Amino acid sequence: MAPDPGPDTAMFISFEGIDGSGKSTQARRMAAHLQGLGRTVCLTREPGGAQGAEEIRALLLTGDPDRWSAETEILLFTAARRDHLEKTIQPALDAGQTVLTDRFADSTRVYQGATRGDLRGHVDVLHRQMIGREPDLTLIFDMPPEAALARGLARNSGEDRFEDFGLAFQTKLRAGFLALVDEFPDRCVVVDATGAEDAVFGRALAAVTARFA
Ligand code: TYD
Repeated sequence: MAPDPGPDTAMFISFEGIDGSGKSTQARRMAAHLQGLGRTVCLTREPGGAQGAEEIRALLLTGDPDRWSAETEILLFTAARRDHLEKTIQPALDAGQTVLTDRFADSTRVYQGATRGDLRGHVDVLHRQMIGREPDLTLIFDMPPEAALARGLARNSGEDRFEDFGLAFQTKLRAGFLALVDEFPDRCVVVDATGAEDAVFGRALAAVTARFA
């Protein structure tokens, strides 16, 4: 990545995509790469990324799929995000670190907002009032849901409340993520997530370099 913007320049990058798209692996690789360039990297994730937010994560991702209404779910994801922002993301950015987050507000826009279109307004109001911050760059890892679902289910993490929703749901999610590029063209970049891990990383790194060089 050359030229590098310098170790004290804060960068905030989110990694988004459907379940099984490989974004978590790519976020880890990007963290290692940027650390190798001398940056201090804060690699974090949602839901979670701070103590209280991780407690909310357990409420959200385990248990009966019908455990929460869609409205309650939006409130829980937003509460977790607020805690994550206050306790982890903002302090790291204030210290000039590079923050890489595995999911951020776009996941709520898509998982809760795009799949239940009537709820998108609530997602936006809560985001404006309680979060009010977007990443500098969002990488959207895109691949056919059939392939992503096979990978995701193979993981069998026990946190599968959303992953169990199946192909039709994941297809809707993919369309929702791709639509974000039209909505936020300055920030969102689609990364082709098909093929070998190294090739995908090369594409992700090219997007980061193009944005920050
Ligand atoms: P996780 O195990 O992190 O999945 P992945 O590794 O695929 O990112 O679980 C996160 C799940 O929560 C995932 O299915 C997406 C869902 N989710 C939402 O529905 N809304 C949100 O705002 C966020 C952050 C995640």
